[in-house]
Amino acid sequence: MTSLPALLGGAPLRPAGQPVENTIGEAEKAAVLRVLDRGELSGFVGSATPHFWGGEEVQGLERAFKEHFGVKHAIAVNSATSGLHCAVSATGVGPGDEVIVSPYTMSASATAILMTGAIPVFADIEDETFGLDPASVEANITPYTRGIMAVNIFGHPARLGELRAIADRHKLFLIEDNAQSPDANYKGRKAGTIGDLGVFSFNRHKTMQSGEGGVVVTNDDKLALKAALMRNHGEVVVADMGVTDIVNTVGLNLRMSEMEAAVARVQFARLPSFNNQRIRNAERISHGLKGTPGLIPPVVAEGCSHVYYMYPLRYDEAQTGMSRELFCKAMMAEGFYARGGYVKPIYLEPLYQQKICFGPNGFPFSASPRSKQLSYQRGICPTVERLQDQEIIISTAFRPPATERDADLFVAACQRILAARDALVRADVSGVLPG
Ligand SMILES: Cc1ncc(COP(=O)(O)O)c(C=O)c1O
Repeated sequence: MTSLPALLGGAPLRPAGQPVENTIGEAEKAAVLRVLDRGELSGFVGSATPHFWGGEEVQGLERAFKEHFGVKHAIAVNSATSGLHCAVSATGVGPGDEVIVSPYTMSASATAILMTGAIPVFADIEDETFGLDPASVEANITPYTRGIMAVNIFGHPARLGELRAIADRHKLFLIEDNAQSPDANYKGRKAGTIGDLGVFSFNRHKTMQSGEGGVVVTNDDKLALKAALMRNHGEVVVADMGVTDIVNTVGLNLRMSEMEAAVARVQFARLPSFNNQRIRNAERISHGLKGTPGLIPPVVAEGCSHVYYMYPLRYDEAQTGMSRELFCKAMMAEGFYARGGYVKPIYLEPLYQQKICFGPNGFPFSASPRSKQLSYQRGICPTVERLQDQEIIISTAFRPPATERDADLFVAACQRILAARDALVRADVSGVLPG
């Protein structure tokens, strides 16, 4: 095997590139057929009848979640975005309220807040778990703060114990966006169950998938009912159900179909094996990269487990001597997906920069008593900006069907590239590398 990097004309270490992820098997197919044979593709009706709660598969999925996570309620929905919407709405927040959220996440974590008319306030993250930094959360609490949304990003729990303590001390709610970390552990508890509400995803790219789908979990009866009302046209059932607190019960159709639920049930049962495969591959990469100057494997905090939705490497250009972009380009040429940065801090999106959301007049930002002080300018969260602009490299190269052999090749690719640093930098500077 030549040591010449693929980017300089050597043979790629993984010539076939990233294998296509596909965890759908015979059990999922049988589950779909079971639903098709029954002919009832959705069990929901938007009226105060037993059908308000959904069909057999939906309720089966909810039962499985309750049992596995030891929670009182699970509400299946058609996406985690919908789940976040149900969760935030259930807390009763509205215009003028503020919810503190991580800026290093998928946009829906924050838009779920905006959809209620409340304001997302972005606190900084810390550079070990890439979750909310408790000190920054404290610093962002104002008289209008009603809650905190922690995001368990990349497969690792945020500092949930400290965030829970802050929420309790200030009488705030805590929601966990746990779309990326199903079954991760936090000091003897499961991520997603430490907040008042936790939200899971079954979208096509998640560890467990049903195409689209999500689940909200909570131990609180009132929050559970509100979330269920949001899922299924709540406004038309509250009278018949005797619900008198109708704040945030304008429902949508966020219902999960029976086919999605049937697939999700199978995938959820397989989750431990999916996670174990990922953990095996990722740990092998971390072990192989240990001590490599400039490449810092993800940290697994004490008492926690990482379930590796992504493999987030920290990159130190001063130590490797080549730019992050050049390194990633060279990894891609070797057949391993590697991207500099994850998402730009979401406050930098036009929605926040221009404070234009509902209508042209800036609602809900304009309705905030602190509208003049609300800042989404570059610089408000320096850690996330540094991580995104300079340090984070995201890879999915470890995901099954990738094996431990692929993990070893990933490490070999990193080493091959770093060993050829001077040649790569020279080629980059002289502009002879492929685009
Ligand atoms: C952290 C996070 N939150 C929320 C979502 C939204 O999930 P869904 O696609 O199921 O709506 C995602 C999906 O990418 C996510 O990664």
